[in-house]
Amino acid sequence: MLEDKFGRRFHYLRLSITDVCNFSCNYCLPDGYACDSHRDFLSLEEITTLVQCFAQLGTSKIRITGGEPSLRKDLSAIIAQCAKTPGIKQVAMTTNGYRLEKDIEQWQSAGLHSINVSIDSLDPRQFAAITGHDKLESIMRGIDKALTLGLKVKVNAVLLRQYNAHELTTFLNWIKHLPVSLRLIELMQTGENTQFFKQQHLSGEPIKRQLLTQGWVQTLRDKTAGPAEEFFHPDYAGKIGLIMPYSKDFCASCNRLRIAATGKLHLCLFAEQGLDIRHYLLENDVQGLAVELTKLLGDKEATHWLQDGYTGATKHLAMLGG
Ligand code: 5AD
Ligand code: SF4
Repeated sequence: MLEDKFGRRFHYLRLSITDVCNFSCNYCLPDGYACDSHRDFLSLEEITTLVQCFAQLGTSKIRITGGEPSLRKDLSAIIAQCAKTPGIKQVAMTTNGYRLEKDIEQWQSAGLHSINVSIDSLDPRQFAAITGHDKLESIMRGIDKALTLGLKVKVNAVLLRQYNAHELTTFLNWIKHLPVSLRLIELMQTGENTQFFKQQHLSGEPIKRQLLTQGWVQTLRDKTAGPAEEFFHPDYAGKIGLIMPYSKDFCASCNRLRIAATGKLHLCLFAEQGLDIRHYLLENDVQGLAVELTKLLGDKEATHWLQDGYTGATKHLAMLGG
């Protein structure tokens, strides 16, 4: 089992398969995706080697991320490859949802178990103002379809002072009868959004207090559950997860490693730079990679130091898929 010197175990891998995105979320890619250099994303064969190796080391869950993963034509083949790797029990994907309505059946047949869809506003005009795309209605139909098909659905909303802070009640009403897990995510500072961050960052703590006074109950979770604080309510079909990277001890429950679209291993979302493991993938060297990964994990730091205004080399999260 992959484990670091702080006793954190990594059964969960986030795998970015492209950093290209067609949306231009104001906190991430406000000017859209800039294709400033040739990108050589991991091939299906390299992904196969990678996933085999992680599975051997105890990884049981893979989340496919982007950029926007559905921009890759071989997405379904990648899902299928992950799903059929011995040891992988769960395949999830994070998406902006723009192909959800069209493709969800195909993804499910390929072996996808759950999706995270980003919806930062339930008001179509506000949604378009944040993302640059008037796609909310189609995405909502996609979510209904995914639920009907029996997929587990999470919805990510990044908390933004001026754009959606006033929508909390709308979001809560929405999940009253809809069994989705709503993830309210504090805006994180990256290399490129410093000014925006200062204007828009909103702490999740007051929201937590509000939920608790409204009868939401915090779930006790074990150490392997990851960094979200989870809440349920007897009158609601949906659940809430608060993701507060600026709060104390956030990193203590970190259970994830990340692979960037060009194959670099990132021990933390905000690690200074990725670690190059690509030659093992090109040579299909599962055992060599296993030895290297075990060694590299010895270097994973205790925390991300975000609270000190440190953003590492992460320009925006499209690089790593959050
Ligand atoms: N801070 C917080 N969340 C972010 N995401 C992208 N950029 C940021 C940021 N700076 C979210 C997206 C998506 C998830 C993968 O990460 O909205 O839901
Ligand atoms: Fe694209 Fe996601 Fe970044 Fe929005 S947050 S621009 S959907 S990568």
